[in-house]
Amino acid sequence: MSLNLVIDGQEIVAQQGITILEAAKRADISIPTLCYVKGKFPEKACELCVVEVEGESEFQRACMVQIKEGMRIVTNSDALSKHRQQRLAILAETHFGDCKAPCNLTCPGQINVQGYIAHVAKGEYEEAVRLVMERNPFPFSVGRVCPRFCETRCRRILVDEPVSINHLKRFVADWCMTRNVDLKLTCDPPTGKRIAVIGGGPAGLTAAYYLARKGHDITVFEAMPKLGGMLRYGIPSYKIPRKILDYETNVILAMGISVKFNQKLGTNFTIDDLQKQGFDATFVGVGAWAPQPLDIPGASLPGVMSATEFLRLVAQDKVKGLGRRAAVFGGNNIALEAARSLLRLGVDEVTVVFPKSRTGMSANQRVLNEAEGEGVQFLMVASPVKIEHGSNGLDVELIRMRLTEPDKRGIRHPEPIPGSSNFIQVDTFIYSLGQMA
Ligand code: SF4
Ligand code: FES
Repeated sequence: MSLNLVIDGQEIVAQQGITILEAAKRADISIPTLCYVKGKFPEKACELCVVEVEGESEFQRACMVQIKEGMRIVTNSDALSKHRQQRLAILAETHFGDCKAPCNLTCPGQINVQGYIAHVAKGEYEEAVRLVMERNPFPFSVGRVCPRFCETRCRRILVDEPVSINHLKRFVADWCMTRNVDLKLTCDPPTGKRIAVIGGGPAGLTAAYYLARKGHDITVFEAMPKLGGMLRYGIPSYKIPRKILDYETNVILAMGISVKFNQKLGTNFTIDDLQKQGFDATFVGVGAWAPQPLDIPGASLPGVMSATEFLRLVAQDKVKGLGRRAAVFGGNNIALEAARSLLRLGVDEVTVVFPKSRTGMSANQRVLNEAEGEGVQFLMVASPVKIEHGSNGLDVELIRMRLTEPDKRGIRHPEPIPGSSNFIQVDTFIYSLGQMA
């Protein structure tokens, strides 16, 4: 049966049994909604869809109320706007971190970004750190080195610029550290299970932290004299100051975790040894320390080394004889951090060599800009083919590159341009082509 009604002064004929919202929609009249999903009934009504119905003393929810013959409806008025704004304010006030936002989904660690920012907004800094540590026990380091995937998806970009999510994390972590705040991190009752964790880097310590909080008895076996793995031996101290890293690893150890230093799997002990010692389980997190090799003549000459080896020597204060000029081959973050470290160690000229154009580099744009600002030079679409000892250091033969036509997957690969060789002289040559376990 058809019914006659008036919405915002417009005469409408609509089928009996539909709601005011549906009737308005069919007449191209828009009524705001938030919780409305056809056929579902929300636990708490948002009340954004309220309308005025002649003869009714209270606003009516358009998504719920069915039309009647002769109804006269107003969908927009000052009183309705005020009510909707009040409802939105109430919803926003009690709506902290309880839905999945793009920042949360983009974070590889799935940290509850909205939740900890809400804590920061309320001045609850300890709670913010605790919430971050529910997903990542390294808020101090991550707050300094994360490429900030979340900020690239922050919806505030639609208005002006992203919320400084990572700096907020760093701020609350540092705030707690400088005040020596007891984070009151608790563990479940002891399970009686012993677990060996091989490797005291980010993976091993993360496993150790969460397993300890589950009540297990954890022993970490670390090959190096200090904890942190790549955070300590692969990331320069200008990015993660060592006292910050020491503090952070101590927060993790405070969960009752024991550590045995200078214990390398395969050299000092085996998995069988651990079983004989009565461990119930073993977690292996030994990292990817082995560099992808540089497969050209001269790659093993003195003065030529991988970026991971170089950064490890820097972290141990064992670097010497770098000379005045250096080249770094590679376009990843480690290559750029090696280049920046070389400048800090007093090398005058540091050139990054890369076989593609700058857009082909995998390094984070922020790191690239920082490196350039500090004086790192770039030699693009070039690749080394041979290194020799010359009268003036290392003679590096480079060849110009060009990109092939796209392959089946649409990828263009660099290929040498025949006869385009030239030479550069350097004292140190570092390469960063990726790492292997
Ligand atoms: S800064 Fe990094 S770790 Fe922190 S929330 Fe964003 S993506 Fe996750
Ligand atoms: S849309 Fe939320 S109450 Fe109608």
